[in-house]
Amino acid sequence: MVDIGKDGRTWLLTGPTSGYALRLTERDELLQLHWGPRVTLADAEALAARPEPQYWPFESELDGREEYPVEGGPRFVRPALSVRTQERRGTEWRFEEYETDGEELRLRFTDAGLAITLHYRMRPATDVVERWVTLGNQGDRSLELLRADSATWTLPERDGWRLSQLHGRWAAESQLVRTDLTYGEKIIGSRRGHTGHQHLPWVALDAEGATEERGEVYGCALGWSGSWRISVAQLPDGRVQITGGAGYDDSGLLRLEPGESFTTPVFAGLWSDGGFGGASRAWHAYQRAYVIPGAEQDRPVLFNSWEATTFDISEDQQRALARRAAAMGVELFVVDDGWFGTRTSDRSGLGDWTPNPDRFPAGLKPLADDVHALGMQFGIWVEPEMVNPDSELYRAHPDWIQYQPGRKRTEFRNQLVLNLARDDVQQYLWEQLDNLLSSAPIDYVKWDFNRCFTDAGWPGEAYPQRLWVDHVHALYALLDRLRAAHPHVAFESCSGGGGRIDLGILGRTDQVWTSDNTDPLDRLSIQHGFSQLHPARVMAAWVTDSPNTQLNGRVSSLRFRFVSAMAGVLGIGGDLTEWTDEELAEAHEWVTLYKEIRPVVQRGDLYRLRAPEGGLSAVQYTYGDETVVLAWLQAQRFGEPVAPVRLRGLDRGAAYRNVETGEVHRGAVLEHHGLHTGLRGDLDATVLRLRRI
Ligand code: DGJ
Repeated sequence: MVDIGKDGRTWLLTGPTSGYALRLTERDELLQLHWGPRVTLADAEALAARPEPQYWPFESELDGREEYPVEGGPRFVRPALSVRTQERRGTEWRFEEYETDGEELRLRFTDAGLAITLHYRMRPATDVVERWVTLGNQGDRSLELLRADSATWTLPERDGWRLSQLHGRWAAESQLVRTDLTYGEKIIGSRRGHTGHQHLPWVALDAEGATEERGEVYGCALGWSGSWRISVAQLPDGRVQITGGAGYDDSGLLRLEPGESFTTPVFAGLWSDGGFGGASRAWHAYQRAYVIPGAEQDRPVLFNSWEATTFDISEDQQRALARRAAAMGVELFVVDDGWFGTRTSDRSGLGDWTPNPDRFPAGLKPLADDVHALGMQFGIWVEPEMVNPDSELYRAHPDWIQYQPGRKRTEFRNQLVLNLARDDVQQYLWEQLDNLLSSAPIDYVKWDFNRCFTDAGWPGEAYPQRLWVDHVHALYALLDRLRAAHPHVAFESCSGGGGRIDLGILGRTDQVWTSDNTDPLDRLSIQHGFSQLHPARVMAAWVTDSPNTQLNGRVSSLRFRFVSAMAGVLGIGGDLTEWTDEELAEAHEWVTLYKEIRPVVQRGDLYRLRAPEGGLSAVQYTYGDETVVLAWLQAQRFGEPVAPVRLRGLDRGAAYRNVETGEVHRGAVLEHHGLHTGLRGDLDATVLRLRRI
């Protein structure tokens, strides 16, 4: 809902629990008034009438208060917008008008031929404020957007702030860290061309020691799958602003010719007073309602062949795996890398998206048909944005890649990045992938991206750096077009594990590959971090072999591996031909149990009961009358009894029956005194199911 002040210069957006207000001064300065609990328009106007702070000439009256600080004039903060024309740099805007349809507010400004529109939207039943900006060149000369952030967020004045972020690297994504903010700027981002394993584009700030279930938390998340930057600045007077958008630096994002425009990605913000857990649940509900396509449908249990076979694949061997997977209750069978071109190792074949004739002489259809006959859907791996130099595609089009003339072409994993900004490359990929999806009954595409940009040149193009932005737009357009043409096909975003996870890609994919690290213990902390922002509904997790083959050789029980992976979208990724009959039978039981709890895990409210850094960790999902608790014990020490886990979000006056044992517990007792898990020893795990009676 959007309320507007009588003079048409104060605006208030209101969500179920929060409000966001802004004010345009007589000098056309756009100031933030309020972001926090719900307020009335009268409150917002009272805030606007408060006397302005007085500053010495060495400080700016605008810094730390503006909605979208442009470059130039009396400002010293990092500009959200930096524009260069032939004559000058910077912006001095004039307010034109506002528009609203009750859900979205648009504020229009102009500056000498540049049209700037700030967009704000709060969709029904969410406290997430979506912000983005449209920039249009309405003049007759070209102009350059050196920087065009999506939004700048201003926090209220507090004594000190704490910053939460998710950092990582390959196989160790989404590690949660909390530190006190100090004066100056903290910058996170990616200059790699994709979202990156190193940081999820999200920050959270709390000022008064928020806990998991209590206190104010402000969060901001960017929906962009290319290079990006978020800056959290504590200004000299202690005020805090967060600004973020596409691109890592300010050296040139796009050139806008007359008549052209650019729409930034969404930078979403959320205020919550329910602690970090309340904030996560609000983010999850928002993504399920407004970001993830078809989130009301639960994701199937999949098998993926990668860890079982790597590049050494054959049709018969995949069939043998498929038979075992189907017997276990798997619903979607995915053939990973190695099925196409001359792809028998990572040295060749990328770019040639037709089945390897030695491995699949009659194409993919016979295997896909057999998989369907076994009662499963059929999925396939692709990495469309890449090419091996040893491929038909590269031999035919060596100029279709990103490269700098006269310089080395950096090969990571023996591959180069295709220049998706080119129309001919877009057309090639569309034809290849459309043909592939039409050639066999394919239900699922795992879309991988296994190296960063390094030589982002485009010989012959007048403004080559536009490929950073254009690549992402081309990727989104390709995914959108494929989804429209093949609406029954689901897509997974993968980038060597969790290298491309953000609100932008999640708007076009059905789930994400969380990490190449499938060790069930390491996974607990990766999943803990991931869940700060994203819901279990998209978090793919596989049960693989023990000892762990990919990373650390850790030995763990099937029980521990399953309960770890059941916290998200369950998959199986082990070499089933090596599993004993007992293991296969046990796995079948776990898959059956997962299907029973799946609606609660994939649609429910998540409560992180205990974080993984202690010996005992647990999460709870509640959906209607059903509650599921997954608990893990890393190591029991000195024979000490394992603490009960205190549940959250229950009806304190109600009784809950343990679905397995029939035991009845009081809601108030479960919340205050907890539930005994029965865990003991090392790497133990359990699933507890309660139903309100
Ligand atoms: C990286 C992915 O994360 C893996 O799961 C697998 O698909 C390989 N690429 C295949 O090359």
